[in-house]
Amino acid sequence: MHITSILTPLALASLATAGPVQVAERQAQKLRIMPLGDSITEITCWRAFVWDQLAEAGYANQVQYVGSQNSNPQNCRPNTANWDMHHEGHSGWLAIDIANNYLTNWLRSTPADIVMFMLGTNDVFRGRSTNDIIAAYTKMVNIMRAANPKMKIIVDLVIPLGTGNNAAVQALNARIPAWAQGLNSTESPIVIADCYTGYKTSDLRDGVHPNLSGDRIIASRVGPLLLEYVRQSLGQ
Ligand SMILES: *[C@@H]1O[C@H](CO)[C@@H](O)[C@H](O)[C@H]1NC(C)=O
Ligand SMILES: *[C@@H]1O[C@H](CO)[C@@H](O)[C@H](O)[C@H]1NC(C)=O
Repeated sequence: MHITSILTPLALASLATAGPVQVAERQAQKLRIMPLGDSITEITCWRAFVWDQLAEAGYANQVQYVGSQNSNPQNCRPNTANWDMHHEGHSGWLAIDIANNYLTNWLRSTPADIVMFMLGTNDVFRGRSTNDIIAAYTKMVNIMRAANPKMKIIVDLVIPLGTGNNAAVQALNARIPAWAQGLNSTESPIVIADCYTGYKTSDLRDGVHPNLSGDRIIASRVGPLLLEYVRQSLGQ
């Protein structure tokens, strides 16, 4: 009885701030970041270069990449050790198909706290309309929030095409800011990584995929936004 009455105020105090239990949970559970996309996510090196930014900022042991894929098809060589290669990049896949048929299960298998995505290039190649791609984006955000109401989201402006219909990429990118603002919320923020402005088609190795210079551009646009989300999520 006597001991309980002494401990109760302490227990209440630890609920008000980050108590020992919460800190322990945070250590056991790394922050989960899903790189989501098509071949521009799968067979490229920007994921590795963004990992370098996380590791160089001291977060390597507190974060992880998640997804059903675990590969390094480009044989990327980040500066830092122990790059987590997990991702959800699927070469050739459309935003529309991912939204309609896959994302729900992916987020069930590998839950995430942060999703960063670039999608739409293959939809453009298949002649899908900007409206249909934006509708797929909305569906994806709804799926992300159903999986985790506090999902933090980074949406990339799509890199330019050196071959094919770059005007359709521009049309999609032009829609993204207002779309993102319309769905933005305090609980589940959406920020835009501008991977288009200043990205030259000479930064593509084959008219579609970034070469190393393009990978560095993408990493330089995505990484700082991800770091800000990581700091917020870890309460730093
Ligand atoms: C969403 O809101 C956050 C602040 O909560 C802001 O930093 C961010 O820029 C907003 N995103 C868009 C696309 O307006
Ligand atoms: C990659 O892009 C840079 C910048 O445009 C260019 O100088 C370089 O030659 C390209 N490298 C390859 C392998 O295409």
